[in-house]
Amino acid sequence: MATPDAFSPDVLQRMEEYRHKGYPLLPDSLLKTPQQIQGIRESGRINVAVLDHVAERIAAGVSTEQINQWVHEETLRLGGIPAPLGYQGFPKSVCTSVNDQVCHGIPSPDVILQEGDIINVDVSTIYNGFFSDSSRMFIIGNTSPKRQRLVRITKECVDAALEQVKPWGRLGDVGYAVHRHARKNGCNVVREIGGHGIGLAFHEEPFVSFVSHRNSGLLLVPGMVFTIEPMVNLGSAHVYVDTDDGWTIYTADGSDSAQWEVQVLVTETGCEVLAW
Ligand code: CO
Repeated sequence: MATPDAFSPDVLQRMEEYRHKGYPLLPDSLLKTPQQIQGIRESGRINVAVLDHVAERIAAGVSTEQINQWVHEETLRLGGIPAPLGYQGFPKSVCTSVNDQVCHGIPSPDVILQEGDIINVDVSTIYNGFFSDSSRMFIIGNTSPKRQRLVRITKECVDAALEQVKPWGRLGDVGYAVHRHARKNGCNVVREIGGHGIGLAFHEEPFVSFVSHRNSGLLLVPGMVFTIEPMVNLGSAHVYVDTDDGWTIYTADGSDSAQWEVQVLVTETGCEVLAW
């Protein structure tokens, strides 16, 4: 159980007022206590360090299996456990999604990064029972202006979303900020897959949509922890699952896709990025 008494009395009173007005709120049990937040923060630090470790090494000629080994070994070295390994049968310690792969790509010795590729490396860590999850895009050498732009716009979508993360904001505004920026730039946002609450489990409530409407959805309150991880396509928003491996999501039209993932805490004054 979260202890709402960890928050100042006016925060509690304000939550009660909104509840009475009929705003949807996350159950108190999913709000994080200061101790839990400290644990999640430490987990997030490892997650960031593992992504930094990858960033220092990733290059043309490297296989995605090599990335998997870096992530696996560095996570263990820092005292963590790679959360993807064995998660619902996922066979590897990290997701690596290249070009038209949208997410959940499985590392393989057969996938060798080529100059011009864009790749999402999605790292998730369990540390002392606390979960963290963030991902970055990497551009391999020089790439096309179209791909560069897709990677940049998708990151800007996350920046725009973060501006909406503050107490008494609405979760719908977070997704709206993503959708608006993507559409303004002629890109399309994947609807089927979204962000999620996280902390004591890998995936908690709520589902975080990136095609939501303004002034809708859950009320944001201090102690909420969730991910913002939009998948943005240059072409159609439609996607499909690779039926051979059961995991990899591809764009339906073969267009390129990018994703950045940040893990964020709603504080009493705004937000704190726990992992990126
Ligand atoms: Co995630």
